[in-house]
Amino acid sequence: MIKAIIFDLDGVIVSTDDLHYKSWKHMADREHIFFNEKINDRLRGVSRMASLEIILEQSTKTYSDEEKIELAAYKNDYYKELLNSLTKDHILPGVMDVLKTLKEKQFKVAIGSSSRNAKFILKQIGLFDYFDAISDGTNIKHSKPAPDVFLIAAEKLNIEPTFCLVVEDAISGIEAASRAQMSSFGVGDAKTSKLATYTSSDIRDLLKYI
Ligand code: BG6
Ligand code: MG
Repeated sequence: MIKAIIFDLDGVIVSTDDLHYKSWKHMADREHIFFNEKINDRLRGVSRMASLEIILEQSTKTYSDEEKIELAAYKNDYYKELLNSLTKDHILPGVMDVLKTLKEKQFKVAIGSSSRNAKFILKQIGLFDYFDAISDGTNIKHSKPAPDVFLIAAEKLNIEPTFCLVVEDAISGIEAASRAQMSSFGVGDAKTSKLATYTSSDIRDLLKYI
């Protein structure tokens, strides 16, 4: 029996992929590092510092830890500038229908996101107060595919992990849900994950399974 739905944020509630891409590209161009959309796809669900490591695979230069921190901060400053233009119009299709129905049916809803900007994004799109719990990049040591972010969300909701269903667009996020013993609903990229319990290109289909 499902009692709670834990939503990933980037790529599920709101489309920030392109903003992440533009911001990493801004950093990569400054450093003369090759970066394209295909590499950007590998960053989905991955924490900021782990994303940087993936990008630096293309670099011949070895960066010190201090330099890496500066590169990540340079990217994030640019990203946060772009996030300033985010509004509720950027909420992905079907999301509000699903959230409203879940509230009516008295499911608990939470956010389980690797992003350290999750709360800022939720405020920008007017959904900060909508969720019963928020677990994000600021409260985890290990990012997806580790189960931590979802286990903490379940703990904050006070609901057993096996009663939770995760909605994800990242393959690493579906693996994290599986490792947390939660069922999952994969959209976008995550539709191809063999570990996903359910998949669809339309988030509204989630309502068929709960
Ligand atoms: C995830 C995104 O939600 O958050 C990743 O899918 C991103 O692409 C990660 O790297 C960390 O985001 P932030 O906002 O903390 O840099
Ligand atoms: Mg995502």
